[in-house]
Amino acid sequence: MNDLLPERLERWQRVERVARSVFHAYGYREVRLPILEKTELFARSIGQHTDIVEKEMYSFADRNGDKLSLRPEGTAGVVRAGIQSGDFRSQLQRWWYAGPMFRHERPQRGRYRQFYQMGVEAFGVPGPDIDAELVVMSARLWRSLGLKDLNLEINSLGTPQSREVYRQALVTYFSAHESELDADSVRRLEHNPLRILDSKNPDMQAVIQAAPSLLDFLDQESVEHFGQLQASLDNAGITYNVNPRLVRGLDYYVRTVFEWTTQSLGAQGTVCAGGRYDGLVVQLGGKPTPAIGFALGMERLVELMSEQQIPGDSTDPAVFMIMVGDAAQIRGIAVAEEMRDAGLQVQCNCNGGSFKAQMKRADRSGARYAVILGDDEMAANHATVKPLRHEVPQQQIAMGSVARYLAEKLDQID
Ligand code: HAM
Repeated sequence: MNDLLPERLERWQRVERVARSVFHAYGYREVRLPILEKTELFARSIGQHTDIVEKEMYSFADRNGDKLSLRPEGTAGVVRAGIQSGDFRSQLQRWWYAGPMFRHERPQRGRYRQFYQMGVEAFGVPGPDIDAELVVMSARLWRSLGLKDLNLEINSLGTPQSREVYRQALVTYFSAHESELDADSVRRLEHNPLRILDSKNPDMQAVIQAAPSLLDFLDQESVEHFGQLQASLDNAGITYNVNPRLVRGLDYYVRTVFEWTTQSLGAQGTVCAGGRYDGLVVQLGGKPTPAIGFALGMERLVELMSEQQIPGDSTDPAVFMIMVGDAAQIRGIAVAEEMRDAGLQVQCNCNGGSFKAQMKRADRSGARYAVILGDDEMAANHATVKPLRHEVPQQQIAMGSVARYLAEKLDQID
């Protein structure tokens, strides 16, 4: 679990700002949901035999003996909230959320026990048009952030019925090759054989490669759905790779699943992942409501931005106010307020200090301009405005005009 201190947060804030505006551009509206839910909600949705539910949740009994868990992901809570509020009755809903998730995983680069996701979920659309829209929207997000070299992997998991047939075929195949499986995979053979396909164990790659392919077991409707999604992506100019071994670690998916991955973050290269979960609303007690969504991992995305030298949103002030002497300190507060009224970020010197000491602070603050008020300025009723980032002479500006003068100057820079 990490502390996120101001400097590290600049890239986070950029992702949040850009993502919010992209989500809004597609009609998604924000929801804010509890971080704690009943443990049972996650067991019923993500799946009893998934790694997340079996060994990664932070679960405890509260004072009433209710079993609760810190949310390991956002989709289950969103579905619970939609059913409870009745909002799914009005059919199409597009929602987004952001916040911390918790999984007791082995910490490593890109994998943390408290991590942050931004996610979107669309309810009420059964067809592949919304699948394509979600992928196109995520591609726009990478473009808007200036990110490069992200690869899209897509797959179709079919319906629960067609997947059951495939599951049987996999169990038969892997049982015949049990001696080639590692202990984890032998354990998965009984409850979650599809996850064996996900194994990164190099010794098992040959047996995985030769396993039956999910795509050969799809029902006709899923084949058509997947075909239309691919046609839409082709038409939108989005390149992708069909990966029949992409199965995802959560049980609720049907048909479309996808992941955006990068080579530059080491083993944890998936920055965004999602898929369709048409059966989940009914499974959790709601009316039949098709649904699809994705979530992006903030830590991984921010690290990728830093790899690609994409800056964050600067939180440096535009102006640092230097005030030397009692009269300047009293007057300075009002002058700073005028500048803030004009939309400028102004950091005032506090705790006094000599002119030299205050100039040092101004430099360290990252501000572009220092506004200096000393005895001379007070007597002449003007301020000295000193550019801090380029070699330009300082100027005397009438006290009443400083805010307008700097607002115009900074506007030219932006
Ligand atoms: P997920 O694949 O479990 O899917 O997580 C989505 C993303 O969250 C991952 O691709 C990764 O970027 C990030 N992530 C997951 N675990 C960690 C971790 N321990 N540390 C850092 N980042 C992590 C879901 O959570 C689904 N709810 C996505 C979804 C939404 N499907 C449909 N709607």
